[in-house]
Amino acid sequence: MAGSMNELAAAYKRLMEKVKEMLIFQSAASIIYWDMQTKMPPRAITLRSQQLALMEKIGHKMVTDPEIGALLEKILDHPDFDSLDEVQRRNVHLAKKEYDERTKLPEELVVETARQRAVSIDTWKKAKAARDYARFRPDLEKMFELRRRAAEILMDVKGTATPYDALIDIFEPGMTADAISRIFGELRSGLVEIVEKCVSAPRQPDVSILRRRVPVEDQRRVSEALAAFIGYDVKSKEAGGRIDETEHPFTTGYYDDVRITTHYHEDRFASSIFSVLHEGGHALYDQNLPREWMYQPVGTACSYGFHESQSRFVENIVGRSREFWSHFLPELKGLTGGVLSDLTLDGFVHAINKVEPSKIRIEADEVTYGLHIIIRFEIERDLFAGKVTVPELPQVWNEKYREYLGVEVEHDSEGVMQDTHWAGGSFGYFPSYALGNIYGGQLLAAMERDLPGWRSRIAAGSFAEVKRWLVDHVHRYGNLYDPADLIKRVTGEGITIEPFLRYLDEKYSALYGY
Ligand code: CO
Repeated sequence: MAGSMNELAAAYKRLMEKVKEMLIFQSAASIIYWDMQTKMPPRAITLRSQQLALMEKIGHKMVTDPEIGALLEKILDHPDFDSLDEVQRRNVHLAKKEYDERTKLPEELVVETARQRAVSIDTWKKAKAARDYARFRPDLEKMFELRRRAAEILMDVKGTATPYDALIDIFEPGMTADAISRIFGELRSGLVEIVEKCVSAPRQPDVSILRRRVPVEDQRRVSEALAAFIGYDVKSKEAGGRIDETEHPFTTGYYDDVRITTHYHEDRFASSIFSVLHEGGHALYDQNLPREWMYQPVGTACSYGFHESQSRFVENIVGRSREFWSHFLPELKGLTGGVLSDLTLDGFVHAINKVEPSKIRIEADEVTYGLHIIIRFEIERDLFAGKVTVPELPQVWNEKYREYLGVEVEHDSEGVMQDTHWAGGSFGYFPSYALGNIYGGQLLAAMERDLPGWRSRIAAGSFAEVKRWLVDHVHRYGNLYDPADLIKRVTGEGITIEPFLRYLDEKYSALYGY
């Protein structure tokens, strides 16, 4: 018996060594990618593509190493498998899921998809600049076809009911299009109601104050002050983070090296403020995963939706609250050399929370944002179900924008071609943005039971209590549970839109006086 237990322990230990190497390798690849976006000189691009392609190839070899398959088989078939603890069993489950998915996709399909991704994104950029969907359409069709093929294979591996569900599962494990359709259906009517109340309210914000010119050097100091506020260390000798500048803000890294980027617009200073808070929220999650789970599958985030819940919690629930600005507005004024000195707290907080139906997702406010996502989800779902085709996308898109948001799309660059996701083949990704908002509302309701005074702590300049709560209730679970189980464990309830809508209604009725 002891001998066979040792055999199981040895196989598990070896599996974790293999996983550790992969995670270290992936963290190195992420820094190469970060460098490409931030520091790389222009002439390095060809060399960089070769570096990335080689790393992709080596990474694929590591993930699909037959030794991993043999170890998994040995562990799962072992009579003492049940003697492994919960974390160990989850590690085995996650390692098996990744191995199965990566080995079942034919190499020819993986290589062709990577190649087509580069081509489609390039065509998308050009077609978007030329406002010419016809130019983008053939490459989008190829990309869709490749992802459809992958989805059909993954459907069998993952045991989902439809190919599209298999793609959703990549970003939000266990979630299905049927469940999202139900949740988003309720979300849509709730959001539309709040939007209508805000838009028709007599009290409207003066957003011209957000156009005041704030020099980039001042904005950089604001970013550092915001990072300090949320406890994202970018300055000390012990720092595990840094802030750099890219066209589109993002977060990348692992535990002790988690970096964020932002973009400074001199005539839109608030843009970077909320990017830093958003990406900072992502970074806190990655930095506060349990230390003892580093280098294990369980030491990763739960899902894209949960990751987004953390960024939006910091950006919107905290960062766009009256309490945060009652503390931070004087500091912002001090850091910006008098340009903002006459702003009032009420005026500023209303301006950064203006609700207005618009055409562009990334510029959308907290209330209308979900409607942009619902449109994209419905289109993807219908595309994979064969109910709409790629050539019909602009028409379907424009009709939905008219119906859901009441806006007229003038050309496809501000319509169906505005996002890069579909060009890159990331079908199934969009729902996680709105799920993040929904989880965030549920987390807020749960946090308010534990920390009823959280708003006064923020107003007093302390984020520590809120951060501690997020670490203790979300970050500490890493990837131990699927999202449906995690939200239930933390809040006592399955996924529900009610807390998010209640949060919005309370906040916006106070702002707009409806
Ligand atoms: Co995000």
